[in-house]
Amino acid sequence: MKAASETLTPEQTTFLVRRRVARLATAGAAAEPHVVPVCFAYAPGSVYIALDEKPKDVSPARLKRVRNILENPNVALVADRYSEDWSLLAFVMVRGRAGLLEPGEEEHAAAVRLLRGKYHQYEKMRIEANPVIAIRPTRASSWGALDTPDDERPPVLDTIRGRRSVRRYLRKEVPAELVDRVLEAARWAPSPHGRQPWRFAVITNEETKNRLAEAMGGEWRSNLRMDGQSPEVVEKRLEGSRRRLLDAPVLVLVCLYLEELDTYPDAARQQGEATMAVHSLGAAAQNVLLAAYDLGLDAGWMCAPLFCPEKVVEALALDPRMIPHALLTLGYAEADPPKRRGRKPLDELVVYRD
Ligand SMILES: Cc1cc2nc3c(=O)[nH]c(=O)nc-3n(C[C@H](O)[C@H](O)[C@H](O)COP(=O)(O)O)c2cc1C
Repeated sequence: MKAASETLTPEQTTFLVRRRVARLATAGAAAEPHVVPVCFAYAPGSVYIALDEKPKDVSPARLKRVRNILENPNVALVADRYSEDWSLLAFVMVRGRAGLLEPGEEEHAAAVRLLRGKYHQYEKMRIEANPVIAIRPTRASSWGALDTPDDERPPVLDTIRGRRSVRRYLRKEVPAELVDRVLEAARWAPSPHGRQPWRFAVITNEETKNRLAEAMGGEWRSNLRMDGQSPEVVEKRLEGSRRRLLDAPVLVLVCLYLEELDTYPDAARQQGEATMAVHSLGAAAQNVLLAAYDLGLDAGWMCAPLFCPEKVVEALALDPRMIPHALLTLGYAEADPPKRRGRKPLDELVVYRD
């Protein structure tokens, strides 16, 4: 079963990728419709559905949806949004052909990773032991306010767990108003003495992004060579990083700003003051990532500016008191990110002392 070329528009993709549940319609040889709610993940050209261990009466292979697909691979999947404010109603319907990926197949493993990345509940389920349903979309249709952010926001803990690093974006513009709301969230980060030791530079212009990529690329090239990497590998990694910068609709450069912090006569306390500022910068960056996710955007983190702050200041003609640390990319995810990492269990991270 081959992945079809892309059939969804960017708006349909963005809407679909952010839904947590869809309805899958199948019909077996007798053409009797059968519809069930499903959790799913999206990759370009495929929708994946796990056969999981949510309480069910029959083994995965005996499930009606599976038997139907084996008799007739034509399926439809609909993901929708309901709101009492009917100006927000929307749905995307994907039609396509479905089949089963079996454990051991490379695509099966990739699909399991994708599903676990989207649903933390799958971390504890042995979904890798069962086949995965793969739908190759052939047609997509939609209706309604696809581009409007959801009015019902998930609880903050779900936002924290749902946020993911995105490295590939759709070619879809981010409204300036959303960027402002994301930065507003950064403004509310905790900071030492409330001094807010961070400043931001927002970059959307192609030419400026190019200048920034050039400036950081030069430094990275010499660092990678110093690490003994072959010239081909160096150029390939550089090109990947350049593309990431250029393809992201918005870049937010997070800079440390130490000017308004307390000064001390001794080096140790001065160092502590600077470290607190870095902690606070991390909190501001996390606010950006969470607010972006909450508003229907996605974000990624690039540490490259940290290694060539002067070059970045020069390329962007910044106030030299701004010390570039992190580059956050903002946009709409092309798909669920394939490399989402799991997390260590709490008992590896925490010790308790009475
Ligand atoms: C300080 C910091 C620096 C990072 N630098 C990079 C980076 O340069 N490139 C990158 O692809 N991801 C970078 N990341 C993102 C991590 O790889 C990512 O958060 C981690 O793999 C967990 O995945 P998740 O964010 O999807 O949960 C960075 C994250 C942090 C906190």
